[in-house]
Amino acid sequence: MSIFTSKHILLGVTGSIAAYKAADLASKLTQAGAQVDVILTPAAEKFITPLTFQSVTGRKAFTDAELWGGEAHVLHVGLGHSADLLVIAPCTANTLGKLAHGLADNLLTITALAMRSSILIAPAMDAGMFEHPATQENVHILCGRGVHFAGPDEGHMASGLTGSGRMVEPAELLGHIRLTLGFGGKLAGKKIVVTAGGTQEPLDPVRMLTNKSSGKQGYAVAQAVLDAGGTVVLVAAPTSLIPPVGAKVVPVRTAREMQEAVLSESVGAEALVMAAAVADFRPKTVAENKLKKRDGIPQIELEAAPDVLLAVAGLGSRKPRVVIGFAAESRDLLENASSKLKSKKLDMLVANDISAPDAGFGVDTNRVTLLFPNAKEETLPLMNKSEVAETIIAHLVVLLESR
Ligand code: CTP
Repeated sequence: MSIFTSKHILLGVTGSIAAYKAADLASKLTQAGAQVDVILTPAAEKFITPLTFQSVTGRKAFTDAELWGGEAHVLHVGLGHSADLLVIAPCTANTLGKLAHGLADNLLTITALAMRSSILIAPAMDAGMFEHPATQENVHILCGRGVHFAGPDEGHMASGLTGSGRMVEPAELLGHIRLTLGFGGKLAGKKIVVTAGGTQEPLDPVRMLTNKSSGKQGYAVAQAVLDAGGTVVLVAAPTSLIPPVGAKVVPVRTAREMQEAVLSESVGAEALVMAAAVADFRPKTVAENKLKKRDGIPQIELEAAPDVLLAVAGLGSRKPRVVIGFAAESRDLLENASSKLKSKKLDMLVANDISAPDAGFGVDTNRVTLLFPNAKEETLPLMNKSEVAETIIAHLVVLLESR
């Protein structure tokens, strides 16, 4: 189930040319399962109509016309009290100023005062306006009150100027909304290190030994940690994936780099989820220059790459309170997995059968069995990698609570 399912999100739209992007955001949120109520300010209505939002959300979009309607006395309170989050995107310098000073001269600003849950602001204004001391002071006031901000981005403005003031793009804004909805979850205040992707071991400046890991399962675990309110350090071997908004990414390439990053990030971490496919072997020597065909077929001698989980086990009392490993097996899944659980001193092992076409490397689904030191086993049905990640994190929460 998505974190957006059954969430009630208020989307405030103010008078900026970026208002057209808010329609895309409303559509994306609705498709993700949220119930989206849109409030347009009078200036927003100059750029875009309520009908646009009604068409994508399937719900009535509110304007100041409703402020003076029959339900006016309860509307703002009703919206403000029932919503899980108020997102104001785009938010002009003018609305920012009103919010900072508690002014309430339209349905959106009145509702903002009635809000009981979080507020997330995506500013949009012309170059120079965001840096203006007046705007900066307003941002400062709102941050001090616990209001969250997404952006603004740097770039080209509709005015032709370049600078800081572009509204964050809807796809990324969705990530900020997801991050904000997760705050205060069961992993709030907990640092979790997650590794993902397949390491690359160089042979010469152009060639390397690597594996088929796409990083999808590890990235899904990082997202699930954020959804539960945790702080994520994502130690990521090269992948083509976009990291979830809110994750601190530590890019690495080789097993040695992954080991260094994991050992240093594990200090003070509550848990490590080792989803990366780390090389077991690496070329003993790395040629400084490209190996040339004319020199004949090279004999590649391999040596052992560091085993990151064994090194973590060696940290003793300094290791994270919960360590979760993965096992990718093509045969004797449970026997191999349970011996890894013991040898790597894990609190849980996620074993996946990579021989199945709908599980393991590259695909969006996975078939896993969870193994625990007390010999308990739980075989999960075919699931999306995001569902597998949510299940892993649900177990992580229980394991942390039991320590
Ligand atoms: N792992 C690790 N360092 C390595 C290799 C693997 O930390 N050099 C971790 C993986 O991230 C995973 C777990 O160990 O969480 C098991 O990885 P896997 O490749 O399945 O097992 P191996 O240790 O490589 O053992 P085998 O060669 O027997 O499959």
